[in-house]
Amino acid sequence: MSSREQLKAELLAQLDRQNVPAHIGIIMDGNGRWAKSRGKTRIHGHQEGARRVKTVVRFANDLGVKHISLYAFSVENWARPSFEVSALMRLIRAYIIRERNDLHAEGVKFRLLGRMEELAPEIIRQANISTELMKDNPGLSLNLCINYGGRAEIVDAVKKIIRAGYPPDEISEELISRHLYWPELPDVDLMVRTSGEMRTSNFHLWRGAYAELYFTPVLWPDFDDVELLKAIAAYQNRERRFGKISEQL
Ligand code: FPP
Repeated sequence: MSSREQLKAELLAQLDRQNVPAHIGIIMDGNGRWAKSRGKTRIHGHQEGARRVKTVVRFANDLGVKHISLYAFSVENWARPSFEVSALMRLIRAYIIRERNDLHAEGVKFRLLGRMEELAPEIIRQANISTELMKDNPGLSLNLCINYGGRAEIVDAVKKIIRAGYPPDEISEELISRHLYWPELPDVDLMVRTSGEMRTSNFHLWRGAYAELYFTPVLWPDFDDVELLKAIAAYQNRERRFGKISEQL
């Protein structure tokens, strides 16, 4: 057995299957650095990053994770060079089409999170086909966050609430939660960021309010099933107090 396989077996043996995070959010960072260190283009890094998504989604589904939110394109990412923006959009569209049947066969559900109205109609059309096809599947929900921003999500929720005519006294956390994108999604339990950066960069601001944060130096194209197990192991070693003290738990 290789040392990697041995580590995976150890992590699996230690895993508490009753305490797997229901919702994992991942900030997939480091594609550019991964490519640069190999003398390749940034686009090549994104392509490798897109390949990684399959391993991680499949493994999370096998572990019983119910939701995985992947930060694939933020509202701020439009500021990148236009050829990089176009390449990312092409990759995302190709991913949705290419992986549709495999994800469906694995029992996965599919959702896009973000400001849809600013995306190319073809991406929305392809995403809707996947969402509709997989909506009754029993497995993990893959929430692909594209043109997503945590602040934008809250702003959009507030607009919906005002348009619906709610009076100020009826505004509550519960009401705001019900007006986020896909209100049925639960809070994020574990937020992972790769590449050593220690920021949450406007990802899941509302649902991530009590998320356990896990930062790893591993660059996204190198993140795999073993790295996901390490993140879950770290999560399982935390004490989630939600404002209480240990003795109350
Ligand atoms: C951050 O790395 C990554 C992104 C802004 C895009 C994430 C996209 C993918 C993983 C590929 C597309 C995804 C799917 C689901 C098809 P960076 O470019 O900021 O890296 P750097 O900080 O090293 O430059």
